[in-house]
Amino acid sequence: MELAPWREPLARALHRNRSLAYCRYFQLATIRSDGHPANRTVVYRGFMDQTNQLKMITDSRSQKVQQITKNQSAEACWYFPKTREQFRLFGQLTLITATSSDRILSSERQQVWQDLSDNARSQFFWPSPGQSRVDASEFTPPEVFPVEPPAEFCLLLLEPEHIDHLELRGEPQNRYLYWREANNNWLTQAVNP
Ligand SMILES: Cc1cc2nc3c(=O)[nH]c(=O)nc-3n(C[C@H](O)[C@H](O)[C@H](O)COP(=O)(O)O)c2cc1C
Repeated sequence: MELAPWREPLARALHRNRSLAYCRYFQLATIRSDGHPANRTVVYRGFMDQTNQLKMITDSRSQKVQQITKNQSAEACWYFPKTREQFRLFGQLTLITATSSDRILSSERQQVWQDLSDNARSQFFWPSPGQSRVDASEFTPPEVFPVEPPAEFCLLLLEPEHIDHLELRGEPQNRYLYWREANNNWLTQAVNP
C-alpha cells in the first residue's frame, strides 16, 4: 500500500517534535447521540502497518465508545508546539474489542496490550469510568497483568479521509488540504491559511 501524501509531513512533525513527550497527545472529537460534540485527549499509538490508520486505545466502558457505536465519524486535532503546526484529521473510527472476529485486528489489539506499560494497563482494572467515585482501595491493580487483554481494553483506529494541515511558520503561513477520492486516490491542494 502506498502511504497517503499527508503521512510524510506528519512523520516529519513527529520527528521534529520528538523531544516533547506531549506531542504524542491529540484531541479526538466524536458526536454524541444528541448531535452535540464530545472531545478529549488521547495518546497516539502509531499507525497500523500497511495502512493509513492511526492507533489509539480506550476503555469499552467509556462514553466515547457508546458514541462511536452510534456514529463512527471523528476528527483528531493535533498541534506540534516546536514546529508550530496543526493537523486536523477527519475520518471514520473502528473499534476493536475482545469480540472482534478479524484475525489481524485482534492480534494487533493483543500486541498493543502487551507493549503497554503496567501503569497504562492498570487503568483497565479500575472501577467504571464516569461512575460515582468509589474508595481508593478499589483501584488496586492485579499483581500480575494477564497476557490476554481484559474485555474492557479496546484498540481504536482512525481512518482519515480529509486532512487539513496548517503551518504557522512562514510569511505568509501555509495550509494544505488532502482528501481521499472514492477510488482511494489522494488529492492535495495548497489553500490560503
Ligand atoms: C494526556 C492525556 C492522555 C490521555 N490518553 C487517553 C487515551 O489514550 N485513551 C483514552 O481513552 N483516554 C485517554 N485520556 C483520558 C481522556 O481524555 C478522557 O478523559 C477519558 O477517555 C474519558 O473520555 P470519554 O468520557 O469521552 O469517553 C487521556 C487524558 C489525558 C489528559
